[in-house]
Amino acid sequence: MLMVDLILKKRSGHELSDEEIHFLITEYVNGNIPDYQMSAFLMATYFQNMTEHEATALAIAMRDSGKVYDLSSIKGIKVDKHSTGGVGDKVTLVLGPMVAALGAKFAKMSGRGLGHTGGTLDKLEAINGFKIEQSEEDFVKLVSKYNIAVVGQSDNITPADKKLYALRDVTGTVDSIPLIASSIMSKKLASGADVIVLDVKVGSGAFMTSLDEAEKLAEVMVKIGRLAGKKMTAVLTNMDEPLGHKIGNGLEVYEAIETLKGNGPKDLVEVCSEIGAYQLVDAGIITDFKKAKLKLEKTLTDGRALNKFREMVLAQGGKIDQIDNPELFLTAKKHEVLANKSGYVEKMITSDIGTAARLLGAGRLTKDDELDLLVGIDLHLKIGSKVEKGDVIATIYHNDKGLKEAEKILQNAIIIGPSKRSVTLIEKTIR
Ligand code: URA
Repeated sequence: MLMVDLILKKRSGHELSDEEIHFLITEYVNGNIPDYQMSAFLMATYFQNMTEHEATALAIAMRDSGKVYDLSSIKGIKVDKHSTGGVGDKVTLVLGPMVAALGAKFAKMSGRGLGHTGGTLDKLEAINGFKIEQSEEDFVKLVSKYNIAVVGQSDNITPADKKLYALRDVTGTVDSIPLIASSIMSKKLASGADVIVLDVKVGSGAFMTSLDEAEKLAEVMVKIGRLAGKKMTAVLTNMDEPLGHKIGNGLEVYEAIETLKGNGPKDLVEVCSEIGAYQLVDAGIITDFKKAKLKLEKTLTDGRALNKFREMVLAQGGKIDQIDNPELFLTAKKHEVLANKSGYVEKMITSDIGTAARLLGAGRLTKDDELDLLVGIDLHLKIGSKVEKGDVIATIYHNDKGLKEAEKILQNAIIIGPSKRSVTLIEKTIR
């Protein structure tokens, strides 16, 4: 088989066979296909697209390029979720303990922040001592014993995706639906869970800004998962404003703890109980979706989800003092941002809000940047909120770095006008 023939075949819009896709991934990882040929193939794919069958073969070939976790020794059905990336997205920190408290086995491998979006691993590292690196054996032990573990992706998972993603990043081929879908799903398939719920974010803070594109991506990912034998759901959730109020690693852990105590923002609770209910139904723990949602919400008010979170933190080496005294996450310097006119919050440019938090040090500008885990933004408003000129619209938590620029970006990203608007949180579900 010759790589140049596969490039020509894709360039002409033909479907590649499973063997051809397997060849191009294994030979690329082995160093027998040079980056310039793979780049040409990626660009041809970008323009010609892939069938669902091809995207599935690609995800499976990438999954098999490295270690595939075996969770079969954990009793019961293992559940997982994945977010395509948002601002203020602390869903895993709340959802995991909720479903684990009701008996689901929540086995989650998380990632770091990407661009303007945050990553669960960075958030967990705001908890002193929390160990995200766990061996496969320890991951299995933790999920078996506590029903929950949230860990980093080990280095030997999907090496093909790591190599391809780095190439896509510098060849203008990141935003291709089959390439994104196979990249995400290869990692989910390698993590070993049986039930996967995808939280596909849509809107001004998401990688997919239109519902149409997000739906296409969700459909391809659901198909790949099903063809690979997983129970799949995709929930398309709105990202036209940050989820909850707090953005930044420690601040988001603070908001997650408040939510686990029953004092969380409505949108965060709704997304967690919606995703959690599909996980419980697909794991066969509760058959009725509405009942599952109610039971999940109860774990937030009766202390069971908070207990589960404390258990997870202790089991993964974290210090419990910050969990029991979450004000310890709010110790950076504070700066108030005031409204420069009266009206309603009509719109937010959510990616810019993510960028403002990044400039303060909450996210990386280059891959080697060290994060400041206590800086970020507390937004006091949601879309539709009424504001008077001079009201405090946000509090910036900072350590001097990037403050002026972040404040300016924030002022421009929160658009105040005469119309009272609202957002639909759950845009669509694909099952
Ligand atoms: N996240 C991933 O893991 N892969 C992509 O291609 C895009 C976002």
